Amino acid sequence: MVMAADPDIERRRYVENMYPTVTVVAESEEVIASPDIDAIVVATPARTHFHQARRALKAGKHVLVEKPFATSLAEATELARIASTNNLVLMAGHTFQYAGAVTYIRDIIGKGELGDLTYVRSLRLNLGQFRTNINVLWDLAPHDLSILLYVLERFPKTVQATGRARVNHSVVDVANVTLDFGDQLAAHIIVSWLDPQKVRKMTFVGDRKMLVYDNMSPSKKIQILDKGIEIAPGHDPAESFEYAHRQGDILIPTIHEAEPLYVECEHFIECCQLGKIPRSGAASGAAVTAIIEAAQQSIRSGGKAVSLDMFDGAAPFEDWLDKTLTMLPGATSTVSDARAANGSPANDAFGEHGREPGQRYKAMVIDPDESRRVFAADALIAFEPGFDVVTVRGLDEASEWIETFVPDLLVMSENIEQSAAEELIDSVRKMPNGDRCRVVSVGRVGNGEAATAPWCHAAVSEGAGSQSGSRPSRMSSHTEN
Ligand SMILES: NC(=O)c1ccc[n+]([C@@H]2O[C@H](COP(=O)([O-])OP(=O)(O)OC[C@H]3O[C@@H](n4cnc5c(N)ncnc54)[C@H](O)[C@@H]3O)[C@@H](O)[C@H]2O)c1
Repeated sequence: MVMAADPDIERRRYVENMYPTVTVVAESEEVIASPDIDAIVVATPARTHFHQARRALKAGKHVLVEKPFATSLAEATELARIASTNNLVLMAGHTFQYAGAVTYIRDIIGKGELGDLTYVRSLRLNLGQFRTNINVLWDLAPHDLSILLYVLERFPKTVQATGRARVNHSVVDVANVTLDFGDQLAAHIIVSWLDPQKVRKMTFVGDRKMLVYDNMSPSKKIQILDKGIEIAPGHDPAESFEYAHRQGDILIPTIHEAEPLYVECEHFIECCQLGKIPRSGAASGAAVTAIIEAAQQSIRSGGKAVSLDMFDGAAPFEDWLDKTLTMLPGATSTVSDARAANGSPANDAFGEHGREPGQRYKAMVIDPDESRRVFAADALIAFEPGFDVVTVRGLDEASEWIETFVPDLLVMSENIEQSAAEELIDSVRKMPNGDRCRVVSVGRVGNGEAATAPWCHAAVSEGAGSQSGSRPSRMSSHTEN
């Protein structure tokens, strides 16, 4: 490792002390722009993963993105497309795919030792750590899902989920997810930040044997139990149901467990050096993202089953990803073109004095259209230094965020209709803290007009209300976006 970036001075000091040979900087842009850097690991707060990874890929770097790989399938496939177009390694930080125990389970299932699987139960529970920028699904479920897809080597057909937001009423902190894989196989996942004990346990129930994977156990990580229910021979269960418990041996295999994170990092380096597709490559990242996105949709609909027919039962993942990529629209805009079209709309929004130099601000880009959203966020990051940006699709997501994130600036696409924009601004203003946002629109490539539309100016002076003319709130140096 030769460079590390973190806007938080305490974290920079920590890295400097631990690794004196590493150059430590505040802005990730410095790492991304450095010609000496071949590969970048993005281990920042989840909502920043996409933008950091996208910028790094666009600068020609190989990228390892911590989980969650992205926070929407559109983001995940966009990253995958840039990587594949430019022959770059793109890897998801699905650490457990590098755990000896998980590889062992995959082998056992592959050899059919458990028989036909009936269900898998996965528990990932603890008290905290609460995150404000993503819910518990995005935080914890990537582990369960990446393990499941890796060991089962198949995609689920549907997902159903329910969730509760107990502590912070806008962030789901407990979720139950059921995946239906067809052929009578289901997986049940519970993820929680609200449980008294730390539990990391998966149970695989097969008709021949059962397997328990307890990642918290130092000596018995895996137990294979020769247990089951057997119907007495010659009995038709429909007539008279006689059964017996089978209580056989318990096998506790020795697992040669190197530190999974270490193995993961070595694998990333090897893939970069040899141009290999990583075990947890973009396809794994995109598949896990797609399932979580669908699970969120299910939570919002009160637990209805959401079809995952996009997978079309296809395996291997790479084939599915290739197919998905060809269906996506091509990239339509480049940030460098935006410079020509845009002045400094963000400065305009803060009034004649603009923003204070060196101060960091928070911006929220709101747009249902993925390419416009990404474009606006990129343009802001590239040409309006000092903004930490989150992107949201619409009002629902904005309201999940706005209380905790408290944006200084709300960015909309210029292409939005004025009436729709005014409605949107109105709704945002009514949310707690919503009246603090200034509003701006970032123009699209080829538009050629000033980026800040007149109705945005109106919204700024009118909407800023009691805060008109005053400075936006100061952000702490440790951002949580
Ligand atoms: N694979 C795993 O098992 C695993 C375990 C823990 C965390 N994670 C993931 O790693 C990521 C970081 O988690 P964490 O617990 O360390 O979070 P954290 O909030 O403690 O640390 C994130 C760091 O990123 C810095 N940061 C924020 N914006 C940045 C930017 N634009 N450029 C550079 N640095 C920036 C912050 O200042 C902070 O120091 C998360 O995405 C999390 O999901 C993965």
